[in-house]
Amino acid sequence: MKYAREMLREVEGYVPGEQPKMAGIVKLNTNENPYPPSPRVLQAVREISTELIRKYPDPGSVRLREAIASRFGYGGPDWVVAGNGMDDVLAMAIRAFVDPGDTIVSPYPTYTLYETLSALHGATFQAVQLDGEFELPEEIHGVKARMIFIPRPNAPTGVASPIRAMERLCREFAGLVFIDEAYADFCGDTCIDFPKRFENAIIGRTFSKSYSLCGLRLGYAIARPEVIAEFMKVRDSYNVNAVAQLGGLAAFEDTDYFQSSVARIRKNRDWLTSALQDAGFRVPPSQANFLLAQWKGTPPAREIFAALRERAIIVRYFDAPRLQDSLRITVGSEAEIEKLIDALREILPAPSTSFSVLD
Ligand SMILES: Cc1ncc(COP(=O)(O)O)c(C=O)c1O
Repeated sequence: MKYAREMLREVEGYVPGEQPKMAGIVKLNTNENPYPPSPRVLQAVREISTELIRKYPDPGSVRLREAIASRFGYGGPDWVVAGNGMDDVLAMAIRAFVDPGDTIVSPYPTYTLYETLSALHGATFQAVQLDGEFELPEEIHGVKARMIFIPRPNAPTGVASPIRAMERLCREFAGLVFIDEAYADFCGDTCIDFPKRFENAIIGRTFSKSYSLCGLRLGYAIARPEVIAEFMKVRDSYNVNAVAQLGGLAAFEDTDYFQSSVARIRKNRDWLTSALQDAGFRVPPSQANFLLAQWKGTPPAREIFAALRERAIIVRYFDAPRLQDSLRITVGSEAEIEKLIDALREILPAPSTSFSVLD
């Protein structure tokens, strides 16, 4: 129960009994894409035959895995495993490679599910503090563990570690390096070719963010075939439903739509970053579809979060070390950003910076 509540807090930013009504809400707390998925997804889903849902889906999601392998220059579907969202892929990775008592490492702050999954599995979890700019510290290169999870770009900071640091990690770390690329499509570069070069690299991806398919639940990992074979042993037989396989493939094939959606979000990200900086927030450089807006002034960040909520604008507040003075804000649509900026103008004192020049 404790984990269920924690996960809900992570996912929704609030706990049962606190939910506001959803109508008219500007929802900027879970990094969903504000734009709809490709029309080809809706068309594919509408045209689904009765037979397709009467029967079990393809247990191996083979067509989808073939398309993914071929897009990224891998030899075939045995380099790819699909899952019921990337969260399912993360859980599979731990089931496949970690024994209870083994150590799992991730940076801090980061996506909290790694720690939750480690605890559920009876693994020892070790967090390595990111430096003051939320970059990987030198210390991360010396850790010893069965598996390390590094989101790139990181959540909730949006900061992407340099590719060189990721290469060094894969070279020097004795265990498996799971690079969580949930937000990589919004970033200028990627580690997607790492499994060709490093036998311990696993790249996780999701259709939730850049393809606007959170509700469909579809994610995947790319790794060496011998690594993927271990995932296959622990996954549920039908872990990707028929609609997700079909809809995901339709989205994946509509590359023009995908690129224009991502470009729009990147443009909005620049706009939102400047608007927040003008309002006095410090914003670490984000390569994702969200921003961490750090605030040192009055009212405190927690009160800004509450005041936005009263205006039906939901952002994410973390009552956790190093994040108590911050809000994580999803890059929304143009209209959503305007509403947010207007609301902040009402809530915050006259424009000035909450940081001194020395911060
Ligand atoms: C870093 C990171 N990894 C994985 C996920 C999960 O993605 P999915 O919706 O595919 O389960 C999220 C979702 O917010 C995330 O932030």
